[in-house]
Amino acid sequence: SVVRLADYRRPSWRIHEIDLCLDLEASQTRVRCRMQLEAAEPDASDHAALCLQGEELQTESIRVDDRLLAAGEYSIVGNRLHIERLPARCVVETVVLICPQRNTRLEGLYASGPMLLTQCEAEGFRRITWALDRPDVLSRYRVELRAEKSRYPVLLSNGNREAAGDLKDGRHFVRWFDPHPKPGYLFAIVAGDIGCVETRFVTIEGRQVDVRVWTEHADVARCQYALEATLRAMRWDEERFGRAYDLDEFNIVAVQYFTMGAMENKGLNIFNARYILADADSATDADYEAIEAVIGHEYFHNWSGNRVTLRDWFQLSLKEGLTVFRDQEFTADLRSRGVKRIGDVRLLRARQFVEDSGPLAHPVRPIEYSEINNFYTATVYEKGAEVIRMLHTLLGETDFRRGLDRYFAAHDGQAATVEDFLAAMSAASGRNLEQFKRWYEQAGTPEIQVSEQFDPDRHEYVLTLHQHLPPTPGGGIKQPLHLPLRFAFYNEAGQRIDNGVSSDAELQGDLIELREPTHRLQVSGLGEAPLPTFLHSLSAPVRLKFSYRAEQLAKVVRFESDPLLRWDAIQRLAFGCIAEGKADYRQALLDACGELLASADADHAFVAECLSLPDITTLADQCAEIDLDGLIKEREDLLDELAEVHADALDTRYRALATQQPDSLSPEAAAARRLKNVLLHWLTRLDPTARLAERQSTEAPTMTDRIAALAALVHFDAPGKAQALDRFAARWHNDLLVTDKWIGLVATRPQPEALDDIAALLRDPQRWLPNNPNRVRAVLGTLGRSNPVAFHRRDGAGYRLYLEQVVQLDAINPQVSARLLTALESWRRLDAERQGLIKSALTDLQSKAQSADLKDVVGRLLA
Ligand code: ARG
Ligand code: ZN
Repeated sequence: SVVRLADYRRPSWRIHEIDLCLDLEASQTRVRCRMQLEAAEPDASDHAALCLQGEELQTESIRVDDRLLAAGEYSIVGNRLHIERLPARCVVETVVLICPQRNTRLEGLYASGPMLLTQCEAEGFRRITWALDRPDVLSRYRVELRAEKSRYPVLLSNGNREAAGDLKDGRHFVRWFDPHPKPGYLFAIVAGDIGCVETRFVTIEGRQVDVRVWTEHADVARCQYALEATLRAMRWDEERFGRAYDLDEFNIVAVQYFTMGAMENKGLNIFNARYILADADSATDADYEAIEAVIGHEYFHNWSGNRVTLRDWFQLSLKEGLTVFRDQEFTADLRSRGVKRIGDVRLLRARQFVEDSGPLAHPVRPIEYSEINNFYTATVYEKGAEVIRMLHTLLGETDFRRGLDRYFAAHDGQAATVEDFLAAMSAASGRNLEQFKRWYEQAGTPEIQVSEQFDPDRHEYVLTLHQHLPPTPGGGIKQPLHLPLRFAFYNEAGQRIDNGVSSDAELQGDLIELREPTHRLQVSGLGEAPLPTFLHSLSAPVRLKFSYRAEQLAKVVRFESDPLLRWDAIQRLAFGCIAEGKADYRQALLDACGELLASADADHAFVAECLSLPDITTLADQCAEIDLDGLIKEREDLLDELAEVHADALDTRYRALATQQPDSLSPEAAAARRLKNVLLHWLTRLDPTARLAERQSTEAPTMTDRIAALAALVHFDAPGKAQALDRFAARWHNDLLVTDKWIGLVATRPQPEALDDIAALLRDPQRWLPNNPNRVRAVLGTLGRSNPVAFHRRDGAGYRLYLEQVVQLDAINPQVSARLLTALESWRRLDAERQGLIKSALTDLQSKAQSADLKDVVGRLLA
């Protein structure tokens, strides 16, 4: 059944307070839920009907104002509980039994190893108790947890701890009270024999907060970095956005079985262990950065999501886009802004642009869904963050901050909409954002076509900028968008031209605001045509089409001060030579890489980004028809040539970097490792013995270096590969997260035969853990998203193996299986042969899909 934004109705009941009592046991948990209800619109006799949602609940009893209802006084039909003619104010109490142990969907109350925990967003609360499970019903929760004390000594929930004590039969209880009203999706509990690292944080308002990061005892020492990152996030949100924490405790728990990255439950964030656990021996530099970013993300939700929540799930980007923007800024402020932006844009293009140009495209605010879990997408998160970033660019930091303050003040404790947010931004800045709102409503990545004309007699250079909005499924006619476009002009000598610029669009410094389908931008007083550059820092999430000559792109790399555009020029050169066979682009790219390699003082991480050419997905995304085999071959050939031409420079720079603080975790040392490992990969192309990589795989003191070296051995099928892999596997076989990394390496080998290795993993009961989402992603997610050679095998074996697993996983965890299937989102642009294979595989899958999640994705892929 389809839910539509246009059908939104206010809730017919308010629930002021919810009293929950959970008698916890893995095999059977009893949940008593008392709700104080008030009808929004009682009928004339002051009565109203109530309809609650519930899934997989075994109902024991229902009481209204403490009177037990007889069988005829309510009805349960499917997933709904109806009670007619309730008093307009009453207390409804339900008692149900649930079975956490058998819950493999990891939604509602479930077990992760020895722990019990909940995941409620988006609609998991109804799997715990009968509920008005919608984000615009906000209640104050008091939660009593009871459990066997030896097995579950720690009992956590939202808010502040209110009471605790022993019960009989070796059981105990802890009671929690959360003073901030919240929707059910933010409810959480954790029970288990877990330990923590802890510290005290004093907020800018003087509140003393006990901050704790919990996990199974064996891993507690690996929580220290996450704890420190939490304090940085708390301080940063105060300083940059004036947002302080609002409870006396802040608990974070890391678990091994978790479908998503993490969850922002009020005062009790729950994390996939991969975004918490880290130590010098087992974590890579990228792991540390991701941990800090996700810790920040969940913490920042405390305001953007929790204090101000969502009216309905169509508004999802209101919290996710805003919070991603906030976490991106957090990382940019703490680390290298330029390098962070390059990473974000790389992800945007590889995932969101691709999503936006295929059958799964949808607006940042969708207008309908059949399964909301399928809308936690790159569009809602990443494009949503770009929309916020454009507002920040249009308004400037000061007005943006005032607008955000206004939004939080006006809607504190409420469930808001995108309109509410834009109204606050508009009021604070005095700007009309009506046209800007279309960013939330229209799917598809806009194209900005730029053409140039130079008039040597009038000394005038004129650019015509035309915006084109591609059609998307169900997208209708598109209206022009309001977007900020940064630009610059350079003369022959590489100096910026600031005078004589004019436009029919609103112009302020180096920024114009496009609103019409076509605008002009011109410079006068020029003896020759300048070099134009556009979209500094990617000022809008669009594709910019301008036919640069090779030598112009080379100049952008040399002259442009914006790191994103320098990196982008290299990406453009790479695309031109890989996908379009442009020989002059190839030469310019070879030269540009040579210059970057020689610029010894440049930011290492930046150079590493420049030397990492676009992946196959990103290249394919820019092709109307995808010649997959051609792209793969041309990309490898280009890399071979780059390595050969620059062999000496590579070697020199690798050696210089290899001696720099090999075991330091400082940002500088991490940046040096990043570049060194890009170089190692190139060097290994040139040396069939792969001796550098082999040595680094055993001798390096950091996981970053060992993994990079193993990746090179695997990629080039080096002689030392098997031994190195075995040694690594043996060292880490007890560690789920590091074994995921190992599997990720094995599964990326760019050979058709890698599929045999993957099939072997699936037969290995020690390694194949289909109930563990991280493990599923390591094996199958890697195949579908990072190994085009094996996945898209011409004989269709990749698709067959993959979709067989998708069907099996559908019975275990529908969210995971539906997500895996999205790897086929670009199938309609592949060659006819592959399209044929995929079409019949998808048609077959359609008859086997059980869950709403999977049916929805197959249906849209085939539509
Ligand atoms: N709100 C969480 C976050 O972004 C993610 C929850 C994802 N839920 C889902 N059903 N996919 O921090
Ligand atoms: Zn989020």
